[in-house]
Amino acid sequence: MHLNSDVLLRVEGLKKVFRSGTSELQVFENLSFQVAQGEMVAIVGESGAGKSTLLHIVGTLDGPTAGDVYCASLRLSSLSEDRAAQFRNHEIGFMWQFHYLLPEFTALENVAMPLLVRGFFRQAAEKQASEWLRAVGLAERAQHRSGELSGGEQQRVALARALITQPKLLLADEPTGDLDSHTADGVFALLARLHRDCQLTSLIATHNFAFARRCDRVLRLQNGRIAEVAPEGLPA
Ligand SMILES: Nc1ncnc2c1ncn2[C@@H]1O[C@H](COP(=O)(O)OP(=O)(O)O)[C@@H](O)[C@H]1O
Ligand SMILES: [Mg+2]
Repeated sequence: MHLNSDVLLRVEGLKKVFRSGTSELQVFENLSFQVAQGEMVAIVGESGAGKSTLLHIVGTLDGPTAGDVYCASLRLSSLSEDRAAQFRNHEIGFMWQFHYLLPEFTALENVAMPLLVRGFFRQAAEKQASEWLRAVGLAERAQHRSGELSGGEQQRVALARALITQPKLLLADEPTGDLDSHTADGVFALLARLHRDCQLTSLIATHNFAFARRCDRVLRLQNGRIAEVAPEGLPA
């Protein structure tokens, strides 16, 4: 199949059904869309629409019931567990509504963690981690335990941890959903700046239409289908 060279992510005919016992829940079917290298794409939709499910599948944390996801030319469902883990560690940065930092570890140690997982020596990992903490405006917080930081600071640390591996693709699931609106503005602005500076391709699930409007494109999940909507057409 012809693949436009600047398409980074291609979702084709994606379907997800959750089964428990005899009951089945079809979250979505026949989702198809492409995301070009460098785009910042918002995924909007009501609670339960399937935004997290979609991001989990794109991030190889869950598998589809049918359909495929391609990142560059890699077909994600063809990867073994090991290769999928390697793909996540090398190509994907994740940011969640709840930061999942290790509260007893310092900000620096949390940010360094993905490099330690890769086998870096501690000193080299922490040197890069301190540069990333500076990039998110938290240089002076490096030695604070993450449990002592504010919600906004924790999300900045989580963003630094997501980007230290220099991923191609950033998947952010309601990254400002747990923050007050002023703090959320700061975290979103930081995310948008690093998206540009790091030449990322980003998929951001959000309830916040003001943030969605600042993305290049908006995809809305509704009734199990996905549709592109004009950012300026979103309700104020
Ligand atoms: N692991 C799971 N098992 C069963 N149902 C699930 C699971 N994860 C999500 N769901 C259901 O799938 C639907 C979509 O959920 P989700 O992707 O979390 O939506 P959103 O992130 O848009 O709020 C919801 O009805 C949710 O209850
Ligand atoms: Mg969700």
